[in-house]
Amino acid sequence: MATPIISVTDVHKSYGRGQNRFDALKGVSFDVAEGESVAIVGKSGSGKSTLMHVLALLDAPTSGSVLLEGAETSRLRGGALNRTRNKTFGFVFQQFFLTGNATVLENVILPLKIAGVGRAERRRRGMAALAQLELDDKAKNKAVNLSGGQKQRTVIARALVNNPRIIFADEPTGNLDSATGAVVEDILFGLNREHGITLFVVTHDEDLARRCDRRLFIRDGLLVEDSAAVAS
Ligand SMILES: Nc1ncnc2c1ncn2[C@@H]1O[C@H](COP(=O)(O)OP(=O)(O)OP(=O)(O)O)[C@@H](O)[C@H]1O
Ligand SMILES: [Mg+2]
Repeated sequence: MATPIISVTDVHKSYGRGQNRFDALKGVSFDVAEGESVAIVGKSGSGKSTLMHVLALLDAPTSGSVLLEGAETSRLRGGALNRTRNKTFGFVFQQFFLTGNATVLENVILPLKIAGVGRAERRRRGMAALAQLELDDKAKNKAVNLSGGQKQRTVIARALVNNPRIIFADEPTGNLDSATGAVVEDILFGLNREHGITLFVVTHDEDLARRCDRRLFIRDGLLVEDSAAVAS
Protein backbone atom coordinates (compact mmCIF):
# COMPACT_ATOMS: atom_id res chain seq x y z
CA MET A 1 0.00 0.00 0.00
CA ALA A 2 1.18 3.53 -0.77
CA THR A 3 2.34 5.70 2.12
CA PRO A 4 -0.70 7.42 3.66
CA ILE A 5 -0.73 11.16 3.04
CA ILE A 6 -1.59 11.57 6.71
CA SER A 7 -0.99 9.09 9.47
CA VAL A 8 -2.20 9.88 12.98
CA THR A 9 -1.08 7.74 15.92
CA ASP A 10 -2.42 8.01 19.47
CA VAL A 11 -2.90 11.78 19.32
CA HIS A 12 -3.79 13.49 22.57
CA LYS A 13 -4.51 17.20 22.90
CA SER A 14 -5.08 18.90 26.23
CA TYR A 15 -5.84 22.53 26.87
CA GLY A 16 -4.93 24.32 30.11
CA ARG A 17 -3.07 22.93 33.11
CA GLY A 18 -3.73 21.37 36.51
CA GLN A 19 -7.31 21.88 37.68
CA ASN A 20 -8.14 23.61 34.41
CA ARG A 21 -6.79 20.89 32.17
CA PHE A 22 -9.22 19.68 29.55
CA ASP A 23 -8.47 16.64 27.40
CA ALA A 24 -9.99 17.49 24.02
CA LEU A 25 -8.41 14.50 22.20
CA LYS A 26 -7.78 11.30 24.14
CA GLY A 27 -5.82 9.04 21.79
CA VAL A 28 -6.90 9.18 18.15
CA SER A 29 -5.33 7.02 15.41
CA PHE A 30 -6.09 6.64 11.69
CA ASP A 31 -4.45 6.75 8.26
CA VAL A 32 -5.74 8.63 5.23
CA ALA A 33 -4.75 7.78 1.67
CA GLU A 34 -4.04 10.52 -0.85
CA GLY A 35 -7.20 11.54 -2.73
CA GLU A 36 -9.66 10.43 -0.05
CA SER A 37 -12.49 12.69 1.07
CA VAL A 38 -12.98 12.45 4.81
CA ALA A 39 -15.80 13.92 6.90
CA ILE A 40 -15.09 14.57 10.58
CA VAL A 41 -18.40 14.45 12.40
CA GLY A 42 -19.66 14.51 15.97
CA LYS A 43 -21.48 16.67 18.51
CA SER A 44 -20.50 20.22 19.36
CA GLY A 45 -17.47 20.17 21.66
CA SER A 46 -16.48 16.60 20.73
CA GLY A 47 -13.07 17.69 19.40
CA LYS A 48 -13.56 17.99 15.62
CA SER A 49 -11.95 21.39 15.16
CA THR A 50 -9.19 20.45 17.59
CA LEU A 51 -8.44 17.37 15.48
CA MET A 52 -8.48 19.37 12.25
CA HIS A 53 -6.09 21.97 13.71
CA VAL A 54 -3.70 19.20 14.70
CA LEU A 55 -3.92 17.56 11.24
CA ALA A 56 -3.32 20.91 9.55
CA LEU A 57 -0.26 21.55 11.75
CA LEU A 58 -1.85 24.68 13.15
CA ASP A 59 -1.59 23.24 16.63
CA ALA A 60 0.81 20.62 18.02
CA PRO A 61 -0.59 17.53 19.75
CA THR A 62 0.20 17.17 23.46
CA SER A 63 1.40 13.66 22.64
CA GLY A 64 1.23 11.22 19.75
CA SER A 65 2.37 11.72 16.18
CA VAL A 66 1.15 13.15 12.90
CA LEU A 67 3.07 11.95 9.83
CA LEU A 68 2.77 13.81 6.55
CA GLU A 69 3.67 11.37 3.75
CA GLY A 70 5.56 9.31 6.29
CA ALA A 71 7.57 12.24 7.68
CA GLU A 72 7.26 13.15 11.35
CA THR A 73 5.83 16.69 11.56
CA SER A 74 6.76 17.45 15.18
CA ARG A 75 10.32 18.22 14.05
CA LEU A 76 9.12 21.01 11.78
CA ARG A 77 9.57 24.43 13.33
CA GLY A 78 9.21 28.07 12.35
CA GLY A 79 9.93 28.70 8.68
CA ALA A 80 9.93 25.04 7.66
CA LEU A 81 6.54 24.54 9.30
CA ASN A 82 5.10 27.63 7.60
CA ARG A 83 6.45 26.55 4.21
CA THR A 84 5.02 23.04 4.58
CA ARG A 85 1.59 24.42 5.52
CA ASN A 86 1.63 27.04 2.81
CA LYS A 87 2.78 24.65 0.08
CA THR A 88 0.79 21.54 0.96
CA PHE A 89 -2.46 22.76 2.52
CA GLY A 90 -5.41 24.91 1.57
CA PHE A 91 -7.72 26.21 4.30
CA VAL A 92 -11.44 26.84 4.14
CA PHE A 93 -12.06 28.00 7.69
CA GLN A 94 -14.71 30.50 8.68
CA GLN A 95 -12.36 32.08 11.18
CA PHE A 96 -9.74 32.65 8.47
CA PHE A 97 -11.38 35.88 7.48
CA LEU A 98 -10.75 37.76 4.34
CA THR A 99 -9.14 41.18 4.63
CA GLY A 100 -12.19 43.32 3.94
CA ASN A 101 -10.38 46.40 2.68
CA ALA A 102 -8.18 44.42 0.29
CA THR A 103 -9.49 43.39 -3.11
CA VAL A 104 -10.73 39.90 -3.86
CA LEU A 105 -7.61 39.24 -5.96
CA GLU A 106 -5.27 40.50 -3.22
CA ASN A 107 -6.93 38.16 -0.73
CA VAL A 108 -6.64 35.19 -3.08
CA ILE A 109 -2.95 35.67 -3.91
CA LEU A 110 -1.83 36.05 -0.30
CA PRO A 111 -0.49 32.45 -0.08
CA LEU A 112 1.55 33.06 -3.27
CA LYS A 113 2.98 36.25 -1.79
CA ILE A 114 4.01 34.32 1.32
CA ALA A 115 5.58 31.68 -0.94
CA GLY A 116 7.62 34.35 -2.73
CA VAL A 117 5.96 33.96 -6.14
CA GLY A 118 6.60 36.95 -8.45
CA ARG A 119 3.99 39.61 -9.13
CA ALA A 120 2.98 38.64 -12.70
CA GLU A 121 2.77 34.95 -11.85
CA ARG A 122 0.72 35.76 -8.72
CA ARG A 123 -1.75 37.70 -10.79
CA ARG A 124 -1.99 34.99 -13.45
CA ARG A 125 -2.60 32.20 -10.94
CA GLY A 126 -4.92 34.33 -8.80
CA MET A 127 -7.09 35.18 -11.79
CA ALA A 128 -7.13 31.52 -12.87
CA ALA A 129 -8.32 30.47 -9.40
CA LEU A 130 -10.99 33.18 -9.42
CA ALA A 131 -12.13 32.08 -12.89
CA GLN A 132 -12.59 28.52 -11.58
CA LEU A 133 -14.89 29.91 -8.91
CA GLU A 134 -16.65 32.22 -11.41
CA LEU A 135 -15.47 35.25 -9.50
CA ASP A 136 -13.06 36.80 -12.01
CA ASP A 137 -15.46 39.70 -12.57
CA LYS A 138 -15.15 40.54 -8.85
CA ALA A 139 -11.32 40.53 -8.75
CA LYS A 140 -11.04 44.28 -8.16
CA ASN A 141 -13.93 44.56 -5.69
CA LYS A 142 -13.20 44.95 -2.00
CA ALA A 143 -13.83 41.68 -0.20
CA VAL A 144 -16.07 43.43 2.32
CA ASN A 145 -18.64 44.11 -0.42
CA LEU A 146 -19.11 40.48 -1.45
CA SER A 147 -22.13 38.35 -0.59
CA GLY A 148 -21.68 35.50 1.90
CA GLY A 149 -21.48 32.86 -0.82
CA GLN A 150 -19.02 34.96 -2.83
CA LYS A 151 -16.84 35.35 0.27
CA GLN A 152 -16.85 31.60 0.78
CA ARG A 153 -15.93 31.06 -2.88
CA THR A 154 -13.11 33.61 -2.47
CA VAL A 155 -11.84 31.62 0.52
CA ILE A 156 -11.89 28.47 -1.66
CA ALA A 157 -10.04 30.29 -4.46
CA ARG A 158 -7.40 31.29 -1.91
CA ALA A 159 -7.27 27.68 -0.65
CA LEU A 160 -6.56 26.28 -4.11
CA VAL A 161 -4.28 28.98 -5.56
CA ASN A 162 -1.19 27.12 -4.32
CA ASN A 163 -2.23 23.77 -5.84
CA PRO A 164 -2.45 22.19 -2.39
CA ARG A 165 -2.35 18.42 -1.83
CA ILE A 166 -4.84 18.65 1.03
CA ILE A 167 -7.78 20.99 1.65
CA PHE A 168 -9.05 21.40 5.20
CA ALA A 169 -12.58 22.76 5.46
CA ASP A 170 -14.26 23.48 8.80
CA GLU A 171 -18.03 23.92 8.35
CA PRO A 172 -17.56 25.19 4.78
CA THR A 173 -21.29 25.50 4.21
CA GLY A 174 -22.31 26.42 7.76
CA ASN A 175 -23.32 30.02 7.10
CA LEU A 176 -24.71 29.56 3.60
CA ASP A 177 -28.22 29.04 2.26
CA SER A 178 -28.75 25.54 0.86
CA ALA A 179 -28.38 26.53 -2.81
CA THR A 180 -25.10 28.40 -2.25
CA GLY A 181 -23.93 25.65 0.10
CA ALA A 182 -24.52 23.10 -2.67
CA VAL A 183 -22.37 25.16 -5.08
CA VAL A 184 -19.54 25.33 -2.52
CA GLU A 185 -19.83 21.56 -1.89
CA ASP A 186 -19.70 20.77 -5.60
CA ILE A 187 -16.56 22.88 -5.95
CA LEU A 188 -14.84 21.08 -3.08
CA PHE A 189 -15.75 17.60 -4.36
CA GLY A 190 -14.79 18.64 -7.90
CA LEU A 191 -11.30 19.53 -6.64
CA ASN A 192 -11.16 16.20 -4.83
CA ARG A 193 -12.23 14.13 -7.84
CA GLU A 194 -10.58 15.99 -10.70
CA HIS A 195 -7.33 17.02 -9.05
CA GLY A 196 -6.98 14.21 -6.51
CA ILE A 197 -6.81 16.73 -3.67
CA THR A 198 -7.34 15.03 -0.32
CA LEU A 199 -10.29 16.64 1.44
CA PHE A 200 -11.02 16.89 5.16
CA VAL A 201 -14.39 18.40 6.04
CA VAL A 202 -15.71 19.11 9.51
CA THR A 203 -19.47 19.32 9.24
CA HIS A 204 -22.79 18.99 11.04
CA ASP A 205 -24.49 18.49 7.68
CA GLU A 206 -25.33 14.80 7.27
CA ASP A 207 -25.76 15.03 3.51
CA LEU A 208 -22.34 16.60 3.12
CA ALA A 209 -20.82 13.93 5.39
CA ARG A 210 -22.47 11.18 3.32
CA ARG A 211 -20.91 12.51 0.12
CA CYS A 212 -17.45 11.87 1.54
CA ASP A 213 -15.62 8.57 0.93
CA ARG A 214 -15.26 8.17 4.66
CA ARG A 215 -16.71 9.45 7.93
CA LEU A 216 -14.78 9.71 11.19
CA PHE A 217 -17.11 10.00 14.18
CA ILE A 218 -15.59 11.83 17.14
CA ARG A 219 -17.15 11.56 20.59
CA ASP A 220 -15.62 13.12 23.72
CA GLY A 221 -12.17 13.24 22.14
CA LEU A 222 -12.19 9.66 20.86
CA LEU A 223 -12.62 8.20 17.38
CA VAL A 224 -15.64 5.97 17.99
CA GLU A 225 -16.45 4.98 14.42
CA ASP A 226 -14.57 4.98 11.12
CA SER A 227 -16.85 4.21 8.19
CA ALA A 228 -13.87 3.08 6.07
CA ALA A 229 -12.85 0.56 8.71
CA VAL A 230 -16.44 -0.75 8.84
CA ALA A 231 -16.73 -1.04 5.06
CA SER A 232 -13.43 -2.85 4.39
N1 LIG B 1 -8.17 26.91 23.54
C1 LIG B 1 -8.93 26.13 24.30
N2 LIG B 1 -8.85 26.13 25.64
C2 LIG B 1 -9.60 25.34 26.41
N3 LIG B 1 -10.51 24.47 25.93
C3 LIG B 1 -10.66 24.42 24.60
C4 LIG B 1 -9.89 25.24 23.70
N4 LIG B 1 -10.27 24.96 22.43
C5 LIG B 1 -11.21 24.01 22.53
N5 LIG B 1 -11.46 23.69 23.83
C6 LIG B 1 -12.43 22.68 24.31
O1 LIG B 1 -12.13 21.45 23.67
C7 LIG B 1 -13.34 20.78 23.31
C8 LIG B 1 -13.33 20.48 21.82
O2 LIG B 1 -13.43 21.71 21.11
P1 LIG B 1 -13.57 21.74 19.54
O3 LIG B 1 -13.50 23.15 19.12
O4 LIG B 1 -12.59 20.79 18.96
O5 LIG B 1 -15.05 21.15 19.33
P2 LIG B 1 -15.88 20.88 18.00
O6 LIG B 1 -16.14 19.42 17.94
O7 LIG B 1 -15.19 21.51 16.85
O8 LIG B 1 -17.25 21.64 18.33
P3 LIG B 1 -18.23 22.52 17.37
O9 LIG B 1 -19.03 21.54 16.59
O10 LIG B 1 -19.07 23.26 18.36
O11 LIG B 1 -17.38 23.42 16.51
C9 LIG B 1 -14.49 21.68 23.77
O12 LIG B 1 -14.98 21.20 25.00
C10 LIG B 1 -13.84 23.04 23.92
O13 LIG B 1 -14.48 23.79 24.91
MG1 LIG C 1 -15.62 23.17 15.61
